[in-house]
Amino acid sequence: MDGALQAWLPPFNTALIVISGAFLLLGYYFIRTKQIERHRGAMLTATVFAGLFLVVYITRFFLFQPRIFAGQGAVRAVYLFILVTHTLLAIAVGPLVLVTLRRALRAQYARHRRLARVTLPIWLYVVVTGWTVYLMLHNVA
Ligand code: HEM
Repeated sequence: MDGALQAWLPPFNTALIVISGAFLLLGYYFIRTKQIERHRGAMLTATVFAGLFLVVYITRFFLFQPRIFAGQGAVRAVYLFILVTHTLLAIAVGPLVLVTLRRALRAQYARHRRLARVTLPIWLYVVVTGWTVYLMLHNVA
């Protein structure tokens, strides 16, 4: 049971991040095409999936030993760069998302837009690098 859980939690976790990223892109497309209600729905969905990701991620952290990256040399340096930037920006993006959302939900759209243009690329970077770390760590690539 433990082994099975350990096997399916990482891909499940990564799926949550990928779904969150897909809604993020969709939400961006919706606002660029002026579909505000759909933008709102997509961004709130992206936030829910990011929240679910965080819950599963933290659960994994407490339940299981972290996996150690096996690569050496240049590939290890690349891995560490991605991991460190991913982790630092993942910590920063949490409050950024909350403030971006709060501004939108209070109808402060000009302020929302200004901050959202910073939040969105950082959030996307965190999603893509999260996915990359998973692929590198599990030797899928
Ligand atoms: C954290 C979640 C969200 C993110 C990352 C986000 C992202 C963005 C981005 C990047 C823009 C600027 C698009 C451009 O370049 O023109 C924008 C604009 C906008 N967003 Fe969001 N958004 C989020 C949540 C919401 C929510 C919940 C609403 C609720 C209605 C909303 C309403 C709007 C509106 C009305 C604009 C247009 C503002 C203007 O052009 O004056 N957003 N959003």
